Amino acid sequence: RKRIVILISGSGSNMVNLAEHCKNGSINADVIAVISNRADAAGLAKAEALGILAESLPHKDFATREAYDERLTELVAGYQPDLVILAGFMRILSPVFVNAFNGRLLNIHPSLLPKYKGIHTHQRALEAGDKEHGVSVHFVTQELDGGPVILQAKVPVFEGDDIDDLQARVHEQEYRIYPLVARWFCAERLQLTEEGVMLDGQLLGLQGYA
Ligand code: GAR
Repeated sequence: RKRIVILISGSGSNMVNLAEHCKNGSINADVIAVISNRADAAGLAKAEALGILAESLPHKDFATREAYDERLTELVAGYQPDLVILAGFMRILSPVFVNAFNGRLLNIHPSLLPKYKGIHTHQRALEAGDKEHGVSVHFVTQELDGGPVILQAKVPVFEGDDIDDLQARVHEQEYRIYPLVARWFCAERLQLTEEGVMLDGQLLGLQGYA
């Protein structure tokens, strides 16, 4: 079985969903640790309730981003993960971290990348009058929200939708696609190569959009 470390900043609902998929065997892995950059993240207690080691490493305790990211890299590396999953981890990671886990670092971003990198994605989709919105799972590279996309799910945007409506609709899709990608990775079906993302030895077609 593979070893997964999950990084969160908030409610951790994707983390719980992934952990449940590991528990019921649909992902061939164990969640070894959950780490938050915020001591008050609600997801920490949820991880503990699932019997998962949960700890916080508050960024506030560090003078610089680099100092924080070096410590975070050491902490995560200490768990010897095969896969590191960002699940609502709301910090930009510097090269020291990204390079340490190159090819085994995943993120989920609540937009149809390359649209709406960064924050407030639901609000921006609404303000633009988009008729469809969605979510992307991608390998993390040094370009913020710019790493190669692995899988996306679209949702419709209806008249009168507000941010909460969109967020809920996107969350439902997150709970489908993030476990699927983690399952592929843990079954050694998914690789990040120089050319792009390979699934079962084939370059993924989404590459052109990433
Ligand atoms: C998710 O919607 C995820 O896509 C988003 O944060 C939410 C976390 O929810 N991630 C980002 O915005 C990354 N920039 P959760 O804590 O309930 O899983």
